[in-house]
Formats: sequence, structure tokens, C-alpha cells
Amino acid sequence: MSKPDQTAEAPTLSSRDRANLRWFWRRYLRRRAPWLILVLGMILVQGVVYQQFLAITETGLRVIFEHGTLRELAVICLAVFGLFVLRGAMGWLVPRIAATVSNGAIHQMRGDLIGHVLRLDLAYFDRTRSGEILQRIVMQTQTLGHFIGLASVNALRDAATVVIVSAYLIWMNPLLFGAAVLVLPVIVWVMNHVSARVRTLQGETDRALGGYMSAIEETVGAMRTVKIAGQEEVEAARLEKDTAKLRDLSLNLQRAQALVMPSIDLSSAVVYVLVIGGGGYMVLSPSFDMDGAAIITFLLGLVLVFDPARLLAQYLGQFQAHMVVLDRLRALMDTRPAITDAPDAVSAFDTGGDIVFDNVRFDYNADQPLFDELSVRFEGGKVSAIVGPTGAGKTTVLSLLSRLYDVQGGEITIGGTPIRNLRIPALRAAFAVVAQDIVIFDNSIRENIRYVRPDASEAEIRQAAENAEIAELIRERGDTPVGPRGAQLSAGQRQRIAIARAFLTDAPILLLDEATSALDQGTEARIRSALQRLTKGRTTIVVAHRLASVADADCIHVLKAGRLVEQGRHGDLVACDGVYARLLRAQGADGR
Ligand SMILES: Nc1ncnc2c1ncn2[C@@H]1O[C@H](COP(=O)(O)OP(=O)(O)OP(=O)(O)O)[C@@H](O)[C@H]1O
Ligand SMILES: [Mg+2]
Repeated sequence: MSKPDQTAEAPTLSSRDRANLRWFWRRYLRRRAPWLILVLGMILVQGVVYQQFLAITETGLRVIFEHGTLRELAVICLAVFGLFVLRGAMGWLVPRIAATVSNGAIHQMRGDLIGHVLRLDLAYFDRTRSGEILQRIVMQTQTLGHFIGLASVNALRDAATVVIVSAYLIWMNPLLFGAAVLVLPVIVWVMNHVSARVRTLQGETDRALGGYMSAIEETVGAMRTVKIAGQEEVEAARLEKDTAKLRDLSLNLQRAQALVMPSIDLSSAVVYVLVIGGGGYMVLSPSFDMDGAAIITFLLGLVLVFDPARLLAQYLGQFQAHMVVLDRLRALMDTRPAITDAPDAVSAFDTGGDIVFDNVRFDYNADQPLFDELSVRFEGGKVSAIVGPTGAGKTTVLSLLSRLYDVQGGEITIGGTPIRNLRIPALRAAFAVVAQDIVIFDNSIRENIRYVRPDASEAEIRQAAENAEIAELIRERGDTPVGPRGAQLSAGQRQRIAIARAFLTDAPILLLDEATSALDQGTEARIRSALQRLTKGRTTIVVAHRLASVADADCIHVLKAGRLVEQGRHGDLVACDGVYARLLRAQGADGR
């Protein structure tokens, strides 16, 4: 995400970076400000310790070279030792406090991100690979928290040391110091060059890493298909290509950063030569007030400055990379869900009323229109069926109803109230759903059923399980988890868990999307009689391919390519000999 204006001026901050940093400060650091101030104070102490060390050393050297006593020398040694004990104590405390601050910030950031991501529209998850989300929540927060917490505190300490010791050196001998900083422009140039490159590379590495994690997730999740298709090697090769790309990118990244150290080393060599030469000359020449002790102290000061300066430069080299990460996280936090409660949304509505689609327009992608002015009425308290060829839009009708997606035109009403005017939790609580793609968690069957109503009693869960013909399996398996995505269950068992959930939800509107498609006819017949008890008096919409299972519906709506082509009772539809009758014939005389 490198922009021309940023590459040109790196490592200075673009206005966007500044806004991002302000945002981060307000959100994650401001409340931790007292700790940060404490850390800052201790950092200053560390800088002052070095300056005092230099001052005492200079005195000590004069004691040795000129007129001192052993007693004076001992005092000086003690003072130096004391100073370093002080710096050591600070050096022990500062990272501890900084770690508390940064881990607190990481924790808060992860909580925020997960909470935020879970509230995003389903459409976001349709287009975003899960590896990307994983990477942001798990890795980028860690990187950023560490950088802003620990690394920045260290950098501040280094900066304090550099500034304080440099100030002391300037006070000692401005001319010599001037000579020493002659190399600064070289360092700045190198830093600019490196920063720009690091920023670009970091963006690419980030994207590649997200892609890689998504690819692994996808492959692992599709193991059955991979194995049956014999694609293990193809998948391995695909992943290998991704890691190779990652390797190249991070190699380039580290290579770019590697330029920092040697350029600083070389510059420091130049500085030492300048100072030894120039300082030596000043000592030898009578026109300068400089003695041996002063020049040794000066050199020592430069040595003390160089290491922090080097670390500081390294920190600045990484700074741009972290600004990229910060920008990514902020962008995610700024992604707003489109499907939200209207300001004047209400919770109460007639859940038993008719469900009406009025001239509904909807498409998943602009270039692929699905519903164009779809109008259909599902009668309250009755059983309606939606049938039609695959891809006709049957599942989409149910998704629109629970506002997993919003219509782009027209209106959906329940009992006369537009669903747009309803509070989303109230709307969704009105549905018991058996979805076409059933989601089972790696938990016991009982807990999987309980998922839709955490407060349900054991007896209620048992009853739901009996109705869905899954009680026997619960008795067999007990509380054993059912594997990731319910991998240890058969398709029919998973479907029965979903049906048990619908029984347990006990909501006024029932949406069944191919709810019994994976069951044998005997089990289906038993569940259907239980379902019939459940549907009594409730508005029910059933989607089914097997037409026999909807023959007794109060009204059957036939969808084809997003259009309502026929509707009526089974007998009427057979009589008019249209799409429904053809589908029925294709399934054999009894519709199976
Ligand atoms: N999340 C999505 N993003 C983009 N397009 C989608 C999405 N879900 C479905 N579609 C497309 O919308 C159309 C209708 O899909 P839908 O799932 O509603 O069909 P369906 O009638 O339920 O089919 P089936 O009988 O196979 O379940 C299809 O062409 C499908 O490709
Ligand atoms: Mg479907």
C-alpha cells in the first residue's frame, strides 16, 4: 500500500499515518498513559546516567593522570558502579512495564477486532478469505502491539540516550561534535532509501502471508475432496509456490533492512577517525583547550551514542513496515456493516402475519442479477413450499428474509411491518432455521443442539433430540466431541442435529432449506410427522428438491432463475402441466 508521496519522504509520516497513530493512541494507549509516563521518566533517568557516567569518567581520568588520591579514585569507582546499578534497575523495570502495556493493548485490540469482524455483513465473509481475517487478528495485532509497546519504548530509551549524551558532547566540544555529525546526511539518505523499499515489501509480504494462510485453511478444510480427486501433490505444489513467494519477499525485506547496519558501521568508522584525528590535533595544538582526559571522554561518549543510534536507525527502518500493518488494521476496523438497525427500529411485530416480497430486487454481484421485481406472498400460519431448479434463488429468498443480505429494491414485510424497520435480533429471533449448509461445531451433540438456545434445559434438549430422531446417537456417543465441522458424523446425523436445533428454537416462523434431503425414507417419515406437529399454527417455508416431501403444502411456489413462474397447490400445478409438472415427471411418478 505504498503511495508515491510516502515513498518519497519516508521515513517521515504521511498524514494518513499520523491519523492512524492518533487513532491508535486514543483507542489503545491513552488509558495506559500513567504507565507510559512512568516509563518515560525511567527512560530519561537512563539517558542521564550515561551523561553522568561521562562527567565522572572525565573527572576520574584527571584524578589518574594528574593529582588524585586513591581515596578519590575509589569514590569515583563507587559512583560509576552506582550509576550502572541505577541504569540496570531501570533497564529491568522498563521492559516489564512496557510488556504489560503492549500485551494489554494487544489483548484489547484482538477483542475489538473479533467483536468487530463478527458484526460484519455475511457479504464481507463471502468475499474475504478467512486466512486474511486470521492473519489480522492473530499476527498483525501481535506484531503491532509488540512494536508499539516494547520496540518503541526501547527506541525512546535509545533516543533519550542519544539526545542527552549528544547534548553533553556538544557542550564539551561543539567543533568536534560537528565533525562527528558530518556523516549524518549519509545515514539519513540510507534510511530514506531503505524505508521506502521496506514499506512496499511489507505490504506485499502481508498480502502473501494472508493468501498463504487462506490457502492452507482451504486445503485442510477440503481434505476429503483433495484425497478423492488425488490432488495431494497438486495442493502441496500450490502451497509450495506460495511459501516460495513468501520466502523471496521476506528475503528481500530483510536484505533491504540489512543495508542499515553496515552503512552505520561504516559511518561510525569515519566518525572515529575524524574524532581521533581532529581531537588528537586539538590536544597537541596549544590553541585548543583540550586535554587527554577530555578526548578520551569524548570518544567514550561517541561509543555510548553509537549503539543506541544504530538501534534507533534500525527501529526507524522498521517503522514504515509497521505503519502499513497499522493501516491495514485500521481499514478493517473502519469497515462498517451495511445491515444494521434503523434508528427508529422496533422489536414488536406480528410474527404470525403474511410474509410478503413486494417487487424485490436483489443480486449478489452487479453483473449477475438474480431477482428483478420478485413478488410473492407466504401466508401466515400456513406451510408454503419453494421449489425449482438448482440456482433458482430458493436459499436466497430465505437469506433475504432474515436479512443476511439486504434487498436492493422493493420491500419485504412480515405481518405488514417492513423488516427494514425491525431490530435485527428481534427479526432473527422469529425464525427457526434448518439451513442447507449445516454448521456443526467440534463439541458434543447435546452442546451443538443447545447452541441456538443456551438457556434451554436438559429436558428441552432431550425432547428436541427425540423429535429429531437423534436421541439414540446422543446416548451412544455421550459427550464426545464430533470433530471439526462435525466431521465424525454422517450427513444425515448432521442434518438431524440441525432439525433438533429448529425444534429447540421454538420460534414462530420455520424455515426449512432441504431439511431432510440426507435422510432415509423411514427416518424422514418419522421426522416429518414430528415436524408437522411443529409447523402447526406456524408460518413455515419449506425448500425442497424432492417434490413428494412438499406435495401437501398449502401453496407451492415455483422459482426458476430468480423468477416466480408458477404457484398453487400440488393438484393445480400438476393440472396446468407447466414447470412443476415437468419437474415432477423427471423425478418419477411419486416425485422421489
Ligand atoms: N454468497 C453468494 N455470493 C454470490 N452469489 C451467490 C451467493 N449465494 C448464491 N449465489 C448465486 O445466486 C444464485 C441463487 O443461489 P441460491 O443459493 O439461492 O440457489 P438455490 O435455488 O437455493 O439453489 P440450490 O437448489 O442449489 O440450493 C446462484 O446463481 C448462485 O450462484
Ligand atoms: Mg439452496
